[in-house]
Formats: sequence, C-alpha cells, structure tokens
Amino acid sequence: MVTKTLSIVFVASEVDGLIKSGGLADVAKALPKSLKEQGHNVQIVMPAYKTIAGRDDAEITLTTQLEHWPHTAYQVRSLNVDGISVFAIESGDYFERTEMYAENNQAYPDNGERFAFFSAATLDLLPKLLGKAPDIIHANDWHTGLIPYLLKKRYAGNDFYHQTRSVLSIHNAVFKGIFHYDEIACLSEFKSHFVPEASISHTHISMLKAGVQCADKINAVSPNYAKELLTELGSHGMASDFQDRESDLIGILNGCDYSEWNPEKDSYIPKQFKANRISMVRGKKACKAALQQEVSLPQKDVAMYGMVCRLTNQKGIQYLLPILEQFLKNDLQLVIVGTGDPVLATHLTEIAQEHSDKFAFVEAYNNKLAHWVEAGSDFFIMPSEFEPCGLNQIYSMAYGTLPIVREVGGLKDSVNNYDDDVENATGFSFKNPEPMELLLVLMRSLLLYSQNLNEVKRVQLHAMKQDFCWNKAALKYIEMYRTAINS
Ligand code: GLC
Repeated sequence: MVTKTLSIVFVASEVDGLIKSGGLADVAKALPKSLKEQGHNVQIVMPAYKTIAGRDDAEITLTTQLEHWPHTAYQVRSLNVDGISVFAIESGDYFERTEMYAENNQAYPDNGERFAFFSAATLDLLPKLLGKAPDIIHANDWHTGLIPYLLKKRYAGNDFYHQTRSVLSIHNAVFKGIFHYDEIACLSEFKSHFVPEASISHTHISMLKAGVQCADKINAVSPNYAKELLTELGSHGMASDFQDRESDLIGILNGCDYSEWNPEKDSYIPKQFKANRISMVRGKKACKAALQQEVSLPQKDVAMYGMVCRLTNQKGIQYLLPILEQFLKNDLQLVIVGTGDPVLATHLTEIAQEHSDKFAFVEAYNNKLAHWVEAGSDFFIMPSEFEPCGLNQIYSMAYGTLPIVREVGGLKDSVNNYDDDVENATGFSFKNPEPMELLLVLMRSLLLYSQNLNEVKRVQLHAMKQDFCWNKAALKYIEMYRTAINS
C-alpha cells in the first residue's frame, strides 16, 4: 500500500533550540524532527521573539500585512532548527520584548491581542509562502487555539485551505487563554461579543476552548491526561468541552529526544556512561561528584535527590516544602534547580541556607545543570499536583535516575512503582496530593538505598533500558492526522 506523504505545519509559541520556557518547546522541536524522519514534510511556525539567537541574521522571506482588518504589518524570517525550517513571525508591536509571555512574573497585558495576531498571521502567511496548502495545521495549547477556529470560520470556503484539517495538542489545559472580548477586538469575528465556540461568559472568551471546539482532532500529551480531561477536576473546569469532543480526543505519550538526552553521548555531563552496570555505576559516581562540587555540597557518597522544574504549584513544591526539613534530617543530599514563583523561591532559598551541607537550591534556568542533575542524582523528585505528560521523569530514567512521582497525568503512564511491581519497576510513586505521602515515598526510596544499594542499581539499570523514542509517538500522531484528513 502506498501511503501518502503528509505536509504538516506545526505551530507553537516556543521551540527548543531557538527559545524555551517549558516542555512544550521540547515537543515542538522533537516531534517535527521525528515526523520528518518518517518521510513527511514539516514546517514550523512560531513568533520571532527578539531574544531568539540568530534572528536578526536570518533571511526575511516575506514582508507583508494581514489581509484581514486591521492590516497589521509583519515580516517572516526563515530559521532552521535541527534541519526543520521555521517561519518566524516578526512584529515590532507584539514580539520585540525581553520575554515571551511575562516579565517579573506578570503576564503582558496585551497577551490576548499578541496571540490572536500570531494565530491570524500564521493562517495569513501560509498561502503567501507555500505553493500548496498543508494537509494538517497542528496547533499547540491556548496560544494557537484560535487557529482551528479561524480556519473553520474566517477561511470557510477558502480555495487554498479547503482540504486542510487542524489538530490541537493539549500540553497544559490549566492555561486557557482567557481574555475579555475587547482585548481581542483585533479579530473582527469577536467584535460582536458573541462567539459561542469561544465564549465562557458574556464578557470573556477562552482561546483554548475555541481550539477544542473547532479542531478536527485533539490530543492530550498522555493517555491518562486524556482521561483526566474528561473529569471536572482533571480538566481544570473544562470537562464539558472535552466531553463534547470525546470521540475526537486521544492521548499520545510524549517521547524522549535521545539526541539531546542520552548519557552515552551527552556533551554536557562530566562523564558519559552506557546502559551496563559497570559503566552506569562509574559514570553516575563521577557525575555525582561533579554535581556536588558545582553546587557546593560536600563530596560524600550519599543518596542524591534532584529536582529540575518551573517553580509553580503545578510541580508540587507545596507538598515538598512542609516536609523538606524533616526529610533533610536524614543522610542525603538534594539539589533543586528552577525559576518561577518568587514566594516559593524565597522559601527554598531560606531552607537551603539553613541546611547548606545537604541542600542546594539554584534559582536559575540552566540547561547544562539540568543535564548534570539528571546524570548525577540517584532519585528525581516530581510530586506534581497535575502533570499532562512530564518529560523530566523520562529524561531521568534514561540517566538511570529513579523518578519519584505522584500518580497523575503522564507520570502515571510512564513510571512503574517499585512497591507495585518490583520486577518491572522504574521508580516510585504515591497517590494522594499530601505532603505526608510524599515524605513516606521519599523515605521508602532512601531505605532501599541505605539497605540494598545493589537493588537500587538493578532498578536504575532497568530504567535506563526503557525506550520512549519519539518515533513511536510520531506514528500515533500520523495516524491521528490521517483520521483528521478522512473525517
Ligand atoms: C507542559 C506540561 C508537561 C508536558 C509538556 C510537553 O509543559 O506541563 O506535563 O510534558 O507540556 O507536552
């Protein structure tokens, strides 16, 4: 059977390799790459933020304006990430800022207009730059939620797009892109204050809702998160929207970009290592010592716990803080790396000052250090309140670092709990969002480390051998694209 090569336009607000604040960027780099490796044509569209490396030297391939009112001028720069071409939309009004979404933890007041413009401009530029319409436009999260809506409404009956289908990936439904109608008056369709596909009240709309209502197919970034989205609690209040689309909603677990996260080839870490016992033990030992030195912890052969995350309640810091000092009474070390909520950062800084012999908190977004923590830790803590997929637990396993997770979202799909299935275990997990439950599972892991280090090493090696390659996930995306095309 000859299967048709698909042309896919992948639209995201951030793409690793150019700019990154979270896991969305990792997916926006790795998934297009994997789709291309499987023979499809892929093009990325993103905003040309002023801080993107190499932006100003990139060729301008289009200088134009939105065809629809208001006729906002913009240009398109051609960039490249890992062999995938990127159209980056440059606009003096919207993207010439220091940050992508927020400064000093305050969202830009015109984010509604910025991402409404981004979505409208994406659909405006494709006919101007591509000879042929894509089969699929793949939108991601609220920033691009208006694309499926505009494609269905603004471009209904449009010759160029009449065969194009849209899909929407939900990486995090807690962010819904809620704005007052007046904030997105730059889209003429919203002037009436009556857009049922997007409305959440008489005054406000949700860009994510518009995407969920209008995309031809929707996927959550793990099967378990797809199930959670059908519930009131797990959908962060959008259950009825997802229930309406249940037959078009699936879950696809994210993959791991092993060209970036592979201890055998990782050029950041001080000693590379393979998935065999001798190499792993030697490599992790050297990486632990280097990590201790880097974050000024004493050089000691103790259990090392790591955590790399945005400092938000989503990541479960609120369960860790109440029990942290209790946990630190034990013989162990802990390194936390991350930025975000200043209140959480202050708490962590204070505790780190009190326990500087055991706990280092590095308030930074630092990719090299993230690799060092993954490689040099024995355990990786991820007690998330909710977690659509989570990538760090997958990176951890690749480095023989056992994730300690809450059984939620994609964490549940990707980590096998030691106490449920010793043989196939790849980490530890707990159920209820309670500090005491987290403390118990942390103590459980420490007990195993102090009483049966050999067993910890066996489980670490087993974790290293798991395969979350993107190609498996990409095949599922391709299947979803084909069902969207045939629907
Ligand atoms: C978001 C989610 C995270 C997921 C990532 C990539 O950051 O919070 O769970 O892994 O998107 O899909």
